[in-house]
Amino acid sequence: MPENVKRGSFGSKFGVIAATAGSAVGLGNIWRFPYIAGENGGGAFLLLYLGFIILIGLPVMLSELTIGRSTQRNPFGAFRLLRPGQKWFWIGVMGIAAAFMINAFYSVVAGWTLEYLFKAITNQFTGESPESIISQFNDFQNSNWRPLFWTVLFLCISGSVVWAGIEKGIEKYTKILMPVLIVLIVILDIRAITLPGAAEGLRFLFEPDFSKIKASTVLEALGQAFFSLSIGMGTLITYGSYIKKNENLGMSTAAVAIIDTLIAIMAGVAIFPAVFAFGISPASGPDLVFLTLPNIFAQMKGGYIFALFFFTLLTVAALTSTISILEVVVAYFTEELHITRGRATLLASLGIGFLGILSSLSLYHIPELSIVGRNLFGILEFISSNVLLPLGGLLIVIFVAWLFGKTKLKGELSSNGLFKASYFPIFLFIVRYVAPLAIALVLMNSVGLIKF
Ligand code: TRP
Repeated sequence: MPENVKRGSFGSKFGVIAATAGSAVGLGNIWRFPYIAGENGGGAFLLLYLGFIILIGLPVMLSELTIGRSTQRNPFGAFRLLRPGQKWFWIGVMGIAAAFMINAFYSVVAGWTLEYLFKAITNQFTGESPESIISQFNDFQNSNWRPLFWTVLFLCISGSVVWAGIEKGIEKYTKILMPVLIVLIVILDIRAITLPGAAEGLRFLFEPDFSKIKASTVLEALGQAFFSLSIGMGTLITYGSYIKKNENLGMSTAAVAIIDTLIAIMAGVAIFPAVFAFGISPASGPDLVFLTLPNIFAQMKGGYIFALFFFTLLTVAALTSTISILEVVVAYFTEELHITRGRATLLASLGIGFLGILSSLSLYHIPELSIVGRNLFGILEFISSNVLLPLGGLLIVIFVAWLFGKTKLKGELSSNGLFKASYFPIFLFIVRYVAPLAIALVLMNSVGLIKF
């Protein structure tokens, strides 16, 4: 049996929301959402994305928190406790594989964020032209050592936070830093929508043009919904296990999903006007944020200070997310394999670092590191977000809908009658039929088993 005596818990309702939102809000909102939306035609993608958040994201999220809180275990241990001797623990195994992959490419981009923080500190944006902003990014990527250096540094930082234990630090800091991040994005939004040509950017983001949807767009939207909400790999089972019995899970789920979605949209509002104002392609891929926002800083009053704040907070947002991913691996290593916390963190970070370095090199230096036209970075991103997370989510909703037990489920969601949970019948209908069917259809469509 897993060591289960001294599990921590979140101190308050606000603490639960702050920590869970801290996991959800990260590079996924500010780096990934705009670039995936940009590659997939903007408005129509956004609409699909929102649909998936509501129909699939919310129920999967609530299901994960329910499993975690009712079992008080890591994902692997939770399924072994609920269904001993059966194969459901494979959800936990898949989650650990996904955790390694996500943290690998995530740390690469978090490394870019550190480079941009350094650029902000040394005032490298003020007054620069759009061309110079682009060549700054290319020079950085063409350096043999800089991207790797920052990635390794980021891994050391996130490793040391997880090593030290997350109880005091994370909850305390996210409560202060998240609201500051939101204020900053609002300021950037205001600057962005007053740029010449802003309207075109806003139209791109908000006016759905369904002719721009590609065959892969539906899967990209589903993958992004999972990625952004931190669902499908057991992160929220782990966090759910730290939530007290008298917290309202439905409320927390709704709050986190709303915060996460708003921040993604606000990031889009900051970025797309700049895309059109400065003549950058919306389909620039993973580079998009780093090519657009510095232009705004370059031209805005007080740009130096805003850039400094922005990249600091983006680094922190990335950190609170990676920590939640790393914690899944570390919880498994310590609780199930009985490795000490220090060793578990070191082991996980070494594996992630190895994969991360390879995927960083696959982007600009060793393009041979690729399969079927996708570089390693893209492969890790695709398999984790678009395959493992939806598959994990599918199994999780099926489990909660059909095997967890209806009475027990109602009891967990209502905290045994403390709350009404009047959404219960709708939730049950969605987890039983709508969500599994929708996920299965999207997955089957993307492997070519069916064609929409
Ligand atoms: N949601 C985070 C972001 O948007 C990333 C993340 C944290 C994540 N934990 C996760 C993604 C678990 C998938 C699964 O940046």
